Amino acid sequence: GAIGAVMTLFTVTHLELTPVIRFGLTPTEPPRFHFVKPENYISMYHQEGTNTLYVGGQAVVFVLTFTDRGVRDLQVCLASSPAVDASSPLECDNFITVIQKVNDTFVVCGTNAGSPKCWLLVNDTVLTDAQGSGQIASASDISPPYPSQRSISLSADGSLYSALSSVGGHAGSIRRTFGSQKLLKTENVWLLNPQFAGAAVIPASQKYKEEIYFFFSEINKTARVDEEPYRARIGRICTVDEGGIKALLPESWTTFMKARVMCGAGSTQQQYNNIKQAVVLTAQDKRAGVMYGLFANAWGRTVICAYSIEDIDQAFSTSKLKGYSSPFIGSRPGTCVRKNSTAGGHNDIKNLGVIRYHPEIEDVIRPVGVAPLDLLSDDHITHTVADIVLAVNDEHYSVLYLGTEQGKVLKVLHTSEEAFIISQYSLFNNEGPVLNMAIDPQKGHLYVGTAMEVQRLPLADCSRYGDTCRECILSRDPYCGWDRARRRCIAIPPGYNISTGEVVVQSNTSVFLPCPVRSFHATYRWEKDNCKRDYPCVFSGDSCVLGPVVDTPLKEGVFRCMATEDGFRVEVISYRLVYNGGPLAASLASTLGPSLLLAAAALWLL
Ligand SMILES: *[C@@H]1O[C@H](CO)[C@@H](O)[C@H](O)[C@H]1NC(C)=O
Ligand SMILES: *[C@@H]1O[C@H](CO)[C@@H](O)[C@H](O)[C@H]1NC(C)=O
Ligand SMILES: *[C@@H]1O[C@H](CO)[C@@H](O)[C@H](O)[C@H]1NC(C)=O
Ligand SMILES: *[C@@H]1O[C@H](CO)[C@@H](O)[C@H](O)[C@H]1NC(C)=O
Ligand SMILES: *[C@@H]1O[C@H](CO)[C@@H](O)[C@H](O)[C@H]1NC(C)=O
Ligand SMILES: *[C@@H]1O[C@H](CO)[C@@H](O)[C@H](O)[C@H]1NC(C)=O
Repeated sequence: GAIGAVMTLFTVTHLELTPVIRFGLTPTEPPRFHFVKPENYISMYHQEGTNTLYVGGQAVVFVLTFTDRGVRDLQVCLASSPAVDASSPLECDNFITVIQKVNDTFVVCGTNAGSPKCWLLVNDTVLTDAQGSGQIASASDISPPYPSQRSISLSADGSLYSALSSVGGHAGSIRRTFGSQKLLKTENVWLLNPQFAGAAVIPASQKYKEEIYFFFSEINKTARVDEEPYRARIGRICTVDEGGIKALLPESWTTFMKARVMCGAGSTQQQYNNIKQAVVLTAQDKRAGVMYGLFANAWGRTVICAYSIEDIDQAFSTSKLKGYSSPFIGSRPGTCVRKNSTAGGHNDIKNLGVIRYHPEIEDVIRPVGVAPLDLLSDDHITHTVADIVLAVNDEHYSVLYLGTEQGKVLKVLHTSEEAFIISQYSLFNNEGPVLNMAIDPQKGHLYVGTAMEVQRLPLADCSRYGDTCRECILSRDPYCGWDRARRRCIAIPPGYNISTGEVVVQSNTSVFLPCPVRSFHATYRWEKDNCKRDYPCVFSGDSCVLGPVVDTPLKEGVFRCMATEDGFRVEVISYRLVYNGGPLAASLASTLGPSLLLAAAALWLL
């Protein structure tokens, strides 16, 4: 069938210069919404799987419903209360800085001309004053007073978490600000003029071990002119944290720890210390994944560094603490522990003291591959979002979308070996910077906002790569595959699963894997589990067959047939081989043998 015929197309090694495909405005323009007047600060909220985007602007929340044909908009006006601070006229209005859904309640907060205020948004229109509706912190702990002061908000398990950057005389903080759990905060001494860049929930197999990471830069204002004032940081807390005891950290986190994050090659001077934004890709319930940070150096040059969540987790759970050398008594300080009635013993009090005075770990978090991603692009990046793509070869790839100062979006494929710009979109009529983006992997949409407009793009934009197999393959876009039946570059169907090509055999059966030969000018080799070592195959009719010859381990795993022609290496087909992995179809099992396996595989190729 058509699905079975989608080939894996991006293990091409580009021995020649592979073209970056540039998309401009086209006849079939994506749906877009123009603001009436420029919105220089925009906040966004999008719930995955919907077509609605909430955009917070100047004294208004735009509720935008996208279809392929256009955008329906609803505007909820939120003028500031009369109290107007005339000292900063440019930022003096009610800029909407926070839109978050907590359980089923929309919390909306704005700067309110210097004295922040929050509302509850009901049925997309009615707004009730949020004050006086249960457990909610003061609005000034959720929204900054001015839109240029960066804030981060994140909703998790029915609670709202808010991080406010330091400005003027305000220290900056990480707080739990709304929900049924106890409202908590950071101690001022834990953060040195923080400027927040992002936050993410880090899942765990056991719910009570769930953490939240906050990404920020700290600024040493007394640093000498020849010293770097910025330090990039990760701070983390446990979501089960319920605060300390009366004598110690009564209203504060008891699980806060922070680490230094480096982005730069080795110990060279080329360090990027100012983290501007961060996104995290993780598996659903596992502490595994990757963190991408957008960093700037003193000259404003921007780069992306990637970090392993496992590395970060390892550092937080094993590193020594700065300024503390005694052994730990009981559980390690900062560990997430299930709250229970017998908690609060002497060990816990000791640990509270350790956290209070030594929240920083000694280990430094370094990027995977040691250096920033090599993007071969000088574009100044202003915003980034990311997606994990399960491609047809059953592997996960990271795709980054980088918004630039010139209103472009770069689509970048990041694999364990390299980062590669797949395509570049110049979307906007004006060339203002990308201010905000939201991604919906479930629906396959990317929302991009500038001061003038908001657009929605498809994540899989395969038809634009041309209509030959070669162009489709060369794009290396993991969302796309070549449909041999329809001869088109298509988006890989959502339900596509490599197990369509799964070969299940009994352990003592000889297996032969066929690779369809389409060009006798190409060389065909097999690889197993991405091993660099490859195995020759034997031509048999229209196939190059891999069989159990001496030294060829036809063990369980993913086998790929690679064809090389004209300097391009293309994956032709892949199989997952499973021994005794499960019940076979009766007709298969009854006559299990090489010839039938070949037939079954050949059927799958049609
Ligand atoms: C919101 O809409 C639902 C369904 O239309 C309605 O039942 C509910 O009363 C509305 N809530 C408020 C507060 O208006
Ligand atoms: C959110 O829902 C949970 C479970 O239904 C409930 O325990 C909690 O109180 C709710 N939180 C808020 C802020 O309404
Ligand atoms: C800030 O920099 C000054 C000058 O180098 C240094 O003395 C001070 O310890 C630094 N502060 C922190 C918190 O690192
Ligand atoms: C409470 O925590 C302690 C220490 O972690 C544990 O030994 C005990 O079994 C827990 N009690 C309950 C009721 O979960
Ligand atoms: C693919 O199919 C296998 C076997 O049915 C299943 O275990 C696996 O979770 C599926 N993968 C995806 C991404 O659906
Ligand atoms: C394979 O092994 C199973 C059980 O070990 C045995 O019953 C079967 O006869 C064997 N088949 C062949 C072809 O050797």
